[in-house]
Order: sequence, then structure tokens, then C-alpha cells
Amino acid sequence: MSLHITPSGKTFAAVVREIDLRNPLSASQVEEIEQALADYGVLSFPNQPLNDDQQQVFIERFGPPSLVTLAELKTANSAHPHFFDVSTVEDDGAQIDPESARGMYLRANLLWHTDGSQAQPPIRLTALSARQLPPEPPDTEYADMRAAYDALSDATKAQIEDLKAEHSIFYSRAKMGMKMSDFTADAMSKRPPVIHPLVRSNPRTGRKSLYLASHASHVIGMPLEAGRALIEELTEHATRPQFVYSHKWHPYELVMWDDSWTMHRAVPYSGTHPRVLRWSGVREVAPV
Ligand code: OGA
Ligand code: MN
Repeated sequence: MSLHITPSGKTFAAVVREIDLRNPLSASQVEEIEQALADYGVLSFPNQPLNDDQQQVFIERFGPPSLVTLAELKTANSAHPHFFDVSTVEDDGAQIDPESARGMYLRANLLWHTDGSQAQPPIRLTALSARQLPPEPPDTEYADMRAAYDALSDATKAQIEDLKAEHSIFYSRAKMGMKMSDFTADAMSKRPPVIHPLVRSNPRTGRKSLYLASHASHVIGMPLEAGRALIEELTEHATRPQFVYSHKWHPYELVMWDDSWTMHRAVPYSGTHPRVLRWSGVREVAPV
């Protein structure tokens, strides 16, 4: 049976029905989801009450799962080192202190970013499972970096065609007030800065897109401030309302997105009802 896909955003994003992600996916289902990711970028699957083992089997159908190595990101449990919780509460139910390393780390999700661009190979796909939501959950916003690229002037397209930016987890976290001393020496040594192109092209559709993130600090070969200004200008352009889809969460939903041509950010939430989303990612198989 084929997937039932309903577009949900203006230029991208779709809802996918007629599939139960608790069951192992067939090769043709994986192919249909891959094609839908290439076409729509952000897919939401309603009513998918996955447990951890099912979420693990699901993501492994799409490639190598990303290993969560930062001590700051508590893994959901030791049997699942590929997961971490985007959560407002500690395991014992207490609110996460916003000034703690974990709190600051998670708060950086408020910045427009691409998951895993601070790694090489970077993360290709993210799957986020809504395990616990407040009665009025905050949205997650997504930006269509393909539509944003298409809307650039020819001069800007030519200017950025071959440019590369440096990405570092410490750059995005410093924006939230984290200091180097908040990271373990081990975490620092495992996370050297990496370099990625500003423009990528999708292997399935051939369409070009901007590749930006809060982790992108400067442009290789440009004076630091000029490169930083260019990154900021492109980010501002790419996140204008016409390129943004705002996702409304429902309990037990799984949202999966293609990090190669979308950016996203969390929306501030100050309520006391817990919000727990279980994060998992799939890496690119080759450097980007
Ligand atoms: C993420 C993320 C945003 C949110 O899970 O990678 O950035 O709204 N989440 O929680
Ligand atoms: Mn994210």
C-alpha cells in the first residue's frame, strides 16, 4: 500500500498517513519516505506511539544512526546511545534549570539551525517523537532552504556558489552564554570545527538549497566579519515568513525532516507542563 501524502506548508512539508511506523518498514516504504523527504523536506506522521526499540529500528532503515557523544545531552537511556531528549524536565520530573549546561544547550534550539551541521559527515535526517506534550504545545518552525535559494538574485547565487563556511557546536552554544568550561575536554576534542558548502544540491531532485545553521561561524577565505555578515544576511533571508512552515504538535506524532535542505528552530515555551521529544538522527554516509 502506498503512503497517503497531504502537503501542509506553502512550499514544503507534508502529513503522511496510511503507515504504522511500529512495524519494520519494507524497502518500498523506505523508498517512498525518502522520495517524500526529497519532495517535501518535513514529514509528520500522526498517531505513531513508538517505543524506543521501534524508533531505533525505524531510523536505522535510513542509514547510520548518529551517536550522541556530548555528556551535556543526556541520552534517553543507556540502551539507546543514539537518542537524546529535547525536554523541559529531568528524568526525576524536575524542571531543567535553564542556566545549567543542559538547559543552555537545549535553549540554543531557539536559534535557527540545522541538526548536526557541526559534524563531518553531518546529520542527514532527524526523527523526533513526541512522547509528552503540554496541553498547548509550542510549535517548531521550519524554513525551506530550497525556496530561499531559488529566491536569491542571480548575483548572490553566483557569489555564494563555491563558498564554504566553518561550523562549530561551540559557536552556537556561545551565543546562549555557554563557556568552553561548560564542556568536558572529551566533548571538545570530539567536536573539532568542520567545513561545509553554503550551497548544496539534492541528489534526488537536483534542486539547490542554502546550507546554514547557528553553528556556522564564518566563511572560508573571507574576512571574518564580512563572512559572518553574509551568513547572517542569508539566514535572515531564508527565514522570512514566506519560506517558513510552523508545525503544530500532536501527541504521539513523529516528525522527520531532511537536514540537508531545511532549517528549524524551537519557539519559546515557559509553561510548567512537561514537553518531551525523543530525538534521533541519521548521518550522511560521505563528507559534505
Ligand atoms: C530538535 C529541535 C526544536 C523544538 O529536536 O532538533 O531543534 O521545537 N527541536 O523542540
Ligand atoms: Mn534541532
